Amino acid sequence: MKKAESIFICQACGHQSRKWLGKCPECGEWNSLVEERERVAAKSGKRSAFKLRDVSAIAYSEIESQDETRVSSGVTEFDRVLGGGLVPGTLVLIGGDPGIGKSTLMLQVADKLSTGNGAVLYVSGEESERQIKLRGERLHVEAKNLFLLPETNLENIFHEVERLNPTAIVVDSIQTIFSAMIESAPGSVSQVREAAHQFLLLAKNRTIPVFLIGHITKDGSIAGPKALEHIVDTVLYFEGERHHNHRIVRAVKNRFGAANEIGVFEMTAAGLVPVANPSQMFLQERPQNVAGSVVTACMEGTRPLLVEIQALVSETKYGTGRRMTQGVDQNRVALLLAMLDKRLGLQMLSDDVFVNIAGGLDVDEPAVDLGVVAAITSSFKNLPIDPHTTVFGEVGLTGEVRGTTQAGVRAREAQALGFKRIVMPGSNKSGLERLLGVHVVGVKSVEEALAELF
Ligand code: TYD
Ligand code: MG
Repeated sequence: MKKAESIFICQACGHQSRKWLGKCPECGEWNSLVEERERVAAKSGKRSAFKLRDVSAIAYSEIESQDETRVSSGVTEFDRVLGGGLVPGTLVLIGGDPGIGKSTLMLQVADKLSTGNGAVLYVSGEESERQIKLRGERLHVEAKNLFLLPETNLENIFHEVERLNPTAIVVDSIQTIFSAMIESAPGSVSQVREAAHQFLLLAKNRTIPVFLIGHITKDGSIAGPKALEHIVDTVLYFEGERHHNHRIVRAVKNRFGAANEIGVFEMTAAGLVPVANPSQMFLQERPQNVAGSVVTACMEGTRPLLVEIQALVSETKYGTGRRMTQGVDQNRVALLLAMLDKRLGLQMLSDDVFVNIAGGLDVDEPAVDLGVVAAITSSFKNLPIDPHTTVFGEVGLTGEVRGTTQAGVRAREAQALGFKRIVMPGSNKSGLERLLGVHVVGVKSVEEALAELF
């Protein structure tokens, strides 16, 4: 038998090299190549053993369309991020910071899935069954049909799957799982990729949902190669800060639904509770009649969300003013400040400008521009904006207010939450004039918008 050759694999991107290199030529990462052993079995197969098999392509028109069958996971907000429930045979990857609530959510989902649906297997490579039970007790999980398996060996797990024949599987976490067929260390690129691939085949062959929990690296991507995100059907990221009780689960990739869809949860003493009306939650602690605060309507996936933008403009103590933002793009704010200076003569060069989305949410769509401009101007002029007003719209470099997507959806969310006036792009206004109980103001420029607000 030929000796197994060693190969060096970049742990960031999966690039392979025969010799060790200090810098990966593929992704440019330093010191990321790790020695792994090539699989011997893959090499020994003789080429002549390959036999041609009859394969034929099927005409698109002849494929019967199927009714989409989706199963509810039992957790409303989780169903929503998945695009309206679970598709059988789907492989879902869930990433997020340590301690954010990945295991908690999956235990809750596993509990719900196990009632009435047959056995659910929860594989844990990180915690013992006692620890999981302890968490379950906090969550009031009874789950008679939930089975725990503290195991990290892939072959053993598959053996147990054969025996138990579960209807859903949770793997906590994919980085701890290793296959005895591969000689590299658990958590290495080859191992993670192989394990994910095996779980993909398992999900497809048995048409059951499989959930993989993934660790994320310090720069926020799921540990292991990007390839892991390519393998799975759906990638969900847990967002939120530890200082806030709300958690957001966002679909960054979804083969069976809209990407960027979010589910909002609140972390309580009894686990994660779905938040039915997130706008209301984000506006809960909003101060009223205070300068520098305004409510804007943004879209997260297909869902409108009203959030409060806060701005603080104060004279700087040292030379040029600083620009600090949280939840909005700092460069975007700098650009809007330059526009305010040039077009409206609001000079804030010697002021510190802080902009913050209350509640720790991140918004990155241009439709919040008008809200940012309004909040900054409000603080600068020390004039409060009417608390029953909401604003949204994209702002261009010449101070024009441009139309946004889904204006009607945003306006209706504001109406539903009892807002009385909406200042929005004039080009989006048609059809919204008759929103019951709301005064809709269409504006063409920032100047017009500010005249309306102050
Ligand atoms: P966990 O699900 O273990 O996080 P992860 O798997 O993402 O690392 O969540 C742990 C945190 O959640 C921990 O700090 C305590 C908190 N928590 C609650 O606030 N309430 C609860 O009911 C549970 C189970 C956890
Ligand atoms: Mg965990």
